[in-house]
Amino acid sequence: MDTIMREQLTAIGGYERCVTEFVRVSQTILPKRVFYRYAPELAQGGLTSSGVPVYIQLLGSDPDLMAANARRAAHLGAPGIDLNFGCPAKTVNRSLGGAALLRSPQLMRSICRAVRDTVPHSVPVTAKIRLGYEDDGQFDSILDALAPVGLSELTIHARTRRQGYRPPAHWGKLKNARQRLSLPVIANGELWGVSDIARCHRVSGCGAFMLARGALCRPDLGAAIQAHYRSIDPIPFTWDHVRELLIHFLERNQLQYDARYAVNPVKQWLVYLKIYYPQAAALFSTVKRLTCSEDMLAALGSDALARAA
Ligand SMILES: Cc1cc2nc3c(=O)[nH]c(=O)nc-3n(C[C@H](O)[C@H](O)[C@H](O)COP(=O)(O)O)c2cc1C
Repeated sequence: MDTIMREQLTAIGGYERCVTEFVRVSQTILPKRVFYRYAPELAQGGLTSSGVPVYIQLLGSDPDLMAANARRAAHLGAPGIDLNFGCPAKTVNRSLGGAALLRSPQLMRSICRAVRDTVPHSVPVTAKIRLGYEDDGQFDSILDALAPVGLSELTIHARTRRQGYRPPAHWGKLKNARQRLSLPVIANGELWGVSDIARCHRVSGCGAFMLARGALCRPDLGAAIQAHYRSIDPIPFTWDHVRELLIHFLERNQLQYDARYAVNPVKQWLVYLKIYYPQAAALFSTVKRLTCSEDMLAALGSDALARAA
């Protein structure tokens, strides 16, 4: 997610770490401004305003270039570097980036090792993988390749690249990973609610979780999970709260990006929100053809919507 979404979600709470969108590393050591664009938080110690560290995510396949860019990111104050070995996008995979590297465990190892050896020891290096490319036949080889490289954590999206985003996520496979590795394994995939966390924990044994779409559908998901495990009452998060967030989100997007495009991220977010909030589905139908921020703001603040809530 981008900085605006990170800011909003971490303010609600429940998150210990964020990761930027991926920074594509292909031919050069990227200029500082690129890192600042992906992680404006670098200007405030690499933390969101709520104090949550934002790791910079790199995607590429050249070990030396990845290492050089990681060094620059660390130099600029990134609190951690995360390496992407899971992106399924065809354009990325064609140039041997993201999930394509799952077919080359030794190259993955070289990338991780080069980055780990180059970045100061105080800066954690983490990675995110899937179970495999076509199938999970090489999963053990991938884990064995990554075991000795000094990663601080490994997040595993419990599906192959071929499985894309199709449910289910195969959390059971993470048990094997935990047994094979001596570093923390973070579970990812199909974590939509508090009960999924409990089931994933039971099946995988993992005690740390990465949320993606679930966090977009339900902005208080992290906070609700933390409240559940700390046996405290969750703070109710109503549709009215979501509407306020949407208004704030639009205003921030207007400031950050060209005003003509500020409505688009709002529409994209509504597509996720409507999975959890029926009111978001109604709102999406109303605003899907809007192109003007003022109209969008009026729709978000309209009395009709407030009454629907
Ligand atoms: C909009 C969007 C952007 C994503 N960007 C990245 C990314 O930059 N790097 C990455 O490793 N995974 C990325 N993912 C995949 C998620 O991190 C996650 O692995 C996947 O969505 C499965 O988790 P979920 O079922 O909780 O959504 C993205 C997913 C979505 C929906």
